[in-house]
Amino acid sequence: MNLAELNKVAVAMTMPGKGILAADESSGTIKKRFDAINVESTEENRRDYREMLFRAAEGMKHISGVILYDETIWQKAKDGTPLVEIIRKAGSIPGIKVDEGTKPLPECPGELITAGLDKLPERLPKYFEQGARFAKWRAVIDIDIGAGIPSYTAILTNAHALARYAALCQAAQIVPIVEPEVLMDGAHDIDRCYEVTEFVLKETFQQLYYQKVALEGIVLKPNMAIAGKKSAKKSSVDEVAEKTVKLLKACVPGAVPGIAFLSGGQSDEEATAHLDAMNKIGNLPWSLTFSYGRALQHAPQKAWSGKSENVAAAQRVFAHRAAMNGLASKGQWKQDLEKKAA
Ligand code: 13P
Repeated sequence: MNLAELNKVAVAMTMPGKGILAADESSGTIKKRFDAINVESTEENRRDYREMLFRAAEGMKHISGVILYDETIWQKAKDGTPLVEIIRKAGSIPGIKVDEGTKPLPECPGELITAGLDKLPERLPKYFEQGARFAKWRAVIDIDIGAGIPSYTAILTNAHALARYAALCQAAQIVPIVEPEVLMDGAHDIDRCYEVTEFVLKETFQQLYYQKVALEGIVLKPNMAIAGKKSAKKSSVDEVAEKTVKLLKACVPGAVPGIAFLSGGQSDEEATAHLDAMNKIGNLPWSLTFSYGRALQHAPQKAWSGKSENVAAAQRVFAHRAAMNGLASKGQWKQDLEKKAA
């Protein structure tokens, strides 16, 4: 492992002013997104949609890296250029989702374990050769207080798998994005989210240590401390920012170069406002940026709706969201900028 090189990539992925575009929806997830805009999920439509984003030069100025799904990393644009080449030419780093989704965790009703470790050592060199310099693995932890979820079994086994994945990536000279996602689907309040995320992050960093993962060569992709979508108690932007920064300071060693949040079901503007408020607090040991899927793509998907005549408009909408999040990664976003664009 060349740690200096891994660290360089991790720093570039999380440099202030830019963030990561999570365009790695599995075939099942992208179908759901396309269903919402009445577009058939064919291989060609998926390619056209993603090509549109990667060719949006104004938007890509704010994108440090793009997470791809296995199908996309091998695809060529309409004119025959490999999509990874388009991403690189836009000044961005190609990355690859390597987990194979979730499976039920035995003896833990309602809980999940992420699959995909078995063939990973053989798959990673092929992705590196294809241009991937970072990877992603998502572990999913749900909160259901009534059902006693999450169990320690789910937290431990998912942290163990994340660390196994991270160690294999570093051995293959690929920066692992370590993503333990505590879902915001439940009815829990922000303090319950804080407690569970704290437990999950502590366990994850313990496993990373046991499995000899070099923290200087990872990017952490966590959820924010935030109330569940079904909670009656909604937190202010400042409360989310303060609690998330407190939580991360308590759990994430300063050796980690950067943290890139998932959006997890927050609205586009909330995801931007929260990131901005955290960076306005300042004085942080790592850089804090975005690795958004829905919060970056929801608006351009709607604007596009599968029609070639909408491509330019959709690219403008994408550029706006990317620029807003780029400003938020420096604590320089203002809500007025949203109104002006509308
Ligand atoms: P969201 O921002 O839509 O949560 O997606 C980010 C991601 O990559 C989840 O794994």
